[in-house]
Amino acid sequence: MSSQPLRIALLPGDGIGPEVTAEAVNVLNAVGQRFGHSFEFGTGLIGGCAIDETGTALPPDTVDLCRASDAVLLGAVGGPKWDNPTAAVRPEQGLLGIRKALGLFANLRPVKLAPALLEASTLKPEVLAGVDLLVVRELTGGIYFGPRQEATADDPTAFDTMLYTQPEIEQVTRLAAAAARGRSGRLASVDKANVLASSRLWRRVVTEVVRAEFPDVELEHVLVDAMAMHLIRRPSAYDVVLAENLFGDILTDEASMLAGSMGLLPSASLGTDLNGHGHPRGLYEPIHGSAPDIAGKGVANPLAAILSAAMLLRHSLGMENEAQAVERAVESVLADGLRTGDIAWGAKEILGTVEMGAAVVSRLTAIN
Ligand code: IPM
Ligand code: MG
Repeated sequence: MSSQPLRIALLPGDGIGPEVTAEAVNVLNAVGQRFGHSFEFGTGLIGGCAIDETGTALPPDTVDLCRASDAVLLGAVGGPKWDNPTAAVRPEQGLLGIRKALGLFANLRPVKLAPALLEASTLKPEVLAGVDLLVVRELTGGIYFGPRQEATADDPTAFDTMLYTQPEIEQVTRLAAAAARGRSGRLASVDKANVLASSRLWRRVVTEVVRAEFPDVELEHVLVDAMAMHLIRRPSAYDVVLAENLFGDILTDEASMLAGSMGLLPSASLGTDLNGHGHPRGLYEPIHGSAPDIAGKGVANPLAAILSAAMLLRHSLGMENEAQAVERAVESVLADGLRTGDIAWGAKEILGTVEMGAAVVSRLTAIN
């Protein structure tokens, strides 16, 4: 039993967020039972539900809760109820706000195809064989946070600015290069250096950091439009892919299709802050959104949330064995033909959200 409490902040959010997060919590509790840990959960508001209750997408209480926790598990934010891009208060502000407030400058999005799902993708199995990508997306800079102007009735002109400083690029490059070193040693950095000034800085700084600090890492620069093509033409040619915020956002939705469904992909957002256990205080979330069309129906795929919990165990609590146990349990469920509706290909049985969560829990207790 760990001597220090293991505090996890839960931000279920909107849409299917609460349903999938509940299953991830069940899995964490099962991990706790099996490995002798006891997790303490605290719940906070974020996104649309926070707007409804408090008038803001990121109430200060939520930020306090996250800062007092060792890790944060988030569901999803947004939905048609709050879908008004011109509103002053929007659910997405909660997500961007918590990333910024916790200094989570790197978003890790692994894309690995479960062998059982080789045929579930729209791409040919021979193109997908061997796909094992880690996309590292810069998360607190670039056009998401640069100076902007909203159009008004008087001045129908709007702009956003892709702004990067050298230290911002250095810190995310170090993280990506270290990840590459722990894997195949190959790093592909994405930019649009043939057009954008911020990309020319990006390319120069990435090159310098890798050359000076990671001479063993093999670095390649790829233009973002070419990367969009390569990801579906020869996705297995890449290992760690480093991209600025907006490019990484777009490429990871594309890359998720390699795995058959967005419902399968977890993510970890890390910064420099360490938690009470000496690990990064990360935020973990599925890469899928709030899926309002299926919210409340009990059919959402909880596997991305469950795999996000596995990343939480690995990166914020240093529990590699526990993380692998969860990942193996998910693989075993898929190998047995248990599916949710979004990955119905090859299904022996289509399960609802709760049943899928329970199936993972039962594997966790049985097989590992
Ligand atoms: C993501 C999402 C968010 C982003 C949205 C919801 C603001 O698309 O996490 O990829 O653009 O970062
Ligand atoms: Mg996105």
